[in-house]
Formats: sequence, structure tokens, C-alpha cells
Amino acid sequence: MSTFTLDTATSRATPSPVPGKRITVPAIRQRKVGGTTADPIVMLTAYTMRMAQLLDPHCDMLLVGDSLGQIIYGLPSTVPVTLEMMCNHGAAVVRGSWHSMVAVDMPFGSYEASPEQAFTSAARIMKESGCAAVKLEGGEAIAPTIDFLSKRGIPVIGHVGLTPQAVNQLGGYGARGRSDAEAHRILADTRAVADAGAFCIVIEGVLESLADQLTTAVAIPTIGIGASARCDGQVLVTEDMLGLFERTPRFVKRYDDMAARITDAVASYAGEVKARAFPTEAETYRAKAI
Ligand code: KIV
Repeated sequence: MSTFTLDTATSRATPSPVPGKRITVPAIRQRKVGGTTADPIVMLTAYTMRMAQLLDPHCDMLLVGDSLGQIIYGLPSTVPVTLEMMCNHGAAVVRGSWHSMVAVDMPFGSYEASPEQAFTSAARIMKESGCAAVKLEGGEAIAPTIDFLSKRGIPVIGHVGLTPQAVNQLGGYGARGRSDAEAHRILADTRAVADAGAFCIVIEGVLESLADQLTTAVAIPTIGIGASARCDGQVLVTEDMLGLFERTPRFVKRYDDMAARITDAVASYAGEVKARAFPTEAETYRAKAI
């Protein structure tokens, strides 16, 4: 079982480099006032302590996304991700952050059966990771569960549009809401999730016109991924925006080419080891002169 208690004498995680207070769930909700968000919400995914440390000062929210299935574990989709994975990575991200609100994805199979099942899973995630909120996918069908959780002290982020846990039903990861019928369904889903008590909602993979409609339709902030600049905030998978993967979806902007930089650094290391050029004097322990 993971724990978010930190032994600062032995851990490299230093969650409070300066005295401060984490951004709270109400503070995120209150960013949108009268339908407008003057200060857009910045969200990125994080799965590890060190990445959380680096992202934390720049973000409002860190999402321990179930995308870790593909990014960390090399799984083919998010479907096989387990509660244990989410608890452990959630705890690492909480240990590595002090400023951002941390939310953890509820994995496929941990919440769909009943509101009670969802409560048990969400409570475990919150207890074991120390996160402030959970995110779950779905619209009208899952709204009663969001209502159940929200009324019992569990802050919920909704997720509509392209819902990757339903990939087997959707048949792929293409943008959603291209037909009028599907756009209407996503609008109804978004309203249902907001009415059920979610404090914000991720909108994934929809046309700009629909993102605009959804953002206008609900009082809570919308966080877009592949959903245009019309949303109240944005989220990306960090490894995608850092350029760690050769293939990324069209909506991703690469802010760096870290795959190339890591490759160069590792090739230099390997070359120096083979040439016996590393370690040098500077990296070698010697007996101290008495
Ligand atoms: O799992 C994840 O990383 C997500 C984001 C892409 C929103 O749900």
C-alpha cells in the first residue's frame, strides 16, 4: 500500500520548497465567473514525483491520468489500468508537488458498476494518494454516480467527448461530435455531469464549434484536450508536449524534442563508457589525505 507521508530526511521529494498553500477545488471552480474565465486553467498530466516537481510551479492542476497505462506501462490502451497503479502514481505526484491541486483518474472497471463501487474506489484513491479530487469518464449514464460522490465529500472532474476508456465501443480515438446527433448527445452529457455536481469537466477531442457550445452551456470550467482554445483551460499529456514520442495526436503542440535530446545524452554516455572516458577524476572517490 502506498502512503503520502514523507520522510524529508531521506526522500528526494521536497513538496514545500517555499511556504504555500495548495490550490483548492473551490478555487478551481471559482475561476469561471458568470460564464467567463479571465485566468485560464493550466493542467498537465504527471505520473512521477520528479515530473510533478518540475511541472508544479507552472500548473494549477496536475492530473494523474490513466494515460499512464500507455505512457508508463506500455499498455495498448487505458482499459487494463488498475486502481493500485493509480494509487501509487497518485501518491508519488502528491509527494512531488506542493502548489497544484492533484486529481487522479478512476481506472476502467473501478466505478461503472454502481455509485457504491465508485465511492469505495474513489475513497481508496484519496486515502492512499492524498489527492484532492478524482476524474471519471462518461455523461448522462454516470451522472447519478457523480451526484453520489459529490454529496459524500469526493470532488469529481467529469470527462466527455472522446472518452478513451470506451475505445472498444468507439472503435478508435477520432474526434467526436461530427454529426448533429452525436454533438447533441455530448451537449446533454456535459449538462448532466455539471448538474450532478462535478466542479470542472475535461472535454476531449471535439470540434471547436462544439467546444464553444459546451463551454457556454455550463457554469463549471471546461478543460480542453483537442478541443480548441474555446475551453476555460487546457490539459495535455506531458510526455506528448515535451516531444518524448515520435507519434502524437494532431492537437498536440510539441514544446521540445526531448526524445532527441535524451538519445544524444545517452549516446554520449555510452560512447564515453566504451572509450573509458567516464568516470573521470571528478566523479571518482579517493581516500582522504590525513
Ligand atoms: O488520462 C489522461 O491523461 C487524461 C487526459 C488526457 C485528460 O484523461
